[in-house]
Amino acid sequence: HLMNQLLGIKDDEKRLATHLGIDHCLVVSGDADQSSRVLDELGKTLNSTLQLLLPPGHLTIAVMGGTTMAHLATQLTFQLSAGRELSFVPARGGLGEAVTIQANSIAAAMAEATDSKYRALYVPENLSSESYESLIKEPSVREVLNLIDKAQVVIHSVGDALVMAKRRGMSPDTISMLKAKHAVAEAFGVFYDAKGKVVYKIPQIGLQLADLDHIPYVFAVAAGKSKAKAIAAYMQHAPSRTWLLTDIGATNSILTGA
Ligand code: F6P
Repeated sequence: HLMNQLLGIKDDEKRLATHLGIDHCLVVSGDADQSSRVLDELGKTLNSTLQLLLPPGHLTIAVMGGTTMAHLATQLTFQLSAGRELSFVPARGGLGEAVTIQANSIAAAMAEATDSKYRALYVPENLSSESYESLIKEPSVREVLNLIDKAQVVIHSVGDALVMAKRRGMSPDTISMLKAKHAVAEAFGVFYDAKGKVVYKIPQIGLQLADLDHIPYVFAVAAGKSKAKAIAAYMQHAPSRTWLLTDIGATNSILTGA
């Protein structure tokens, strides 16, 4: 209750959390589909939530890519690193995103905003298995993978399955397969149907779904009515510890099923 008061948890946040079966939801006003200022507001909320929740000392924060994450990065502040030594790392290797919204770029932007360190993970997609095997033996790659393994915090987003598949230029065959399996959500390169069942995984190194079980602080940030179905689907799979940061646009649509 005290934490609720500190964070100013509102009724719609409690209702959404109960509906989704997770412990914490934070909801900002507006709809990200209509105005990108909603994402700035989410970034500010993320910043103050991290400030309140994260313990002092050294922390490794694994982050995903995407336009939401890129927006959030602009709102983080250097106060976050007062009493903390933060290291940002990409949660996974390349998932076919444009450079500016790749996890590597987000880790760099978040480190810059908070006056902290980051490490990049250089693993291109579509490598032959031979090159892949030798690449992951490289000490510089191993080192970053070890950091990812030890991350205490993960910040990620959730996307609509087909929007993501198309944005990443996945093959027509894969897209047909995703449609046939009724994929509606994507997070961490993993696709889910409306019941939260995994229907496809993009093979990549880095954080795997099972790792979420031992990461104490998990933040999912996704907003806009257009992401309502994706959020509701993924949250059935998400650890209940997950903090969902979203907006009223997505919340109303999730709660009314419309
Ligand atoms: O590709 C990285 C990623 O975080 C996905 O896991 C997620 O579905 C997507 O980006 C979200 O992108 P956006 O914030 O642009 O909707």
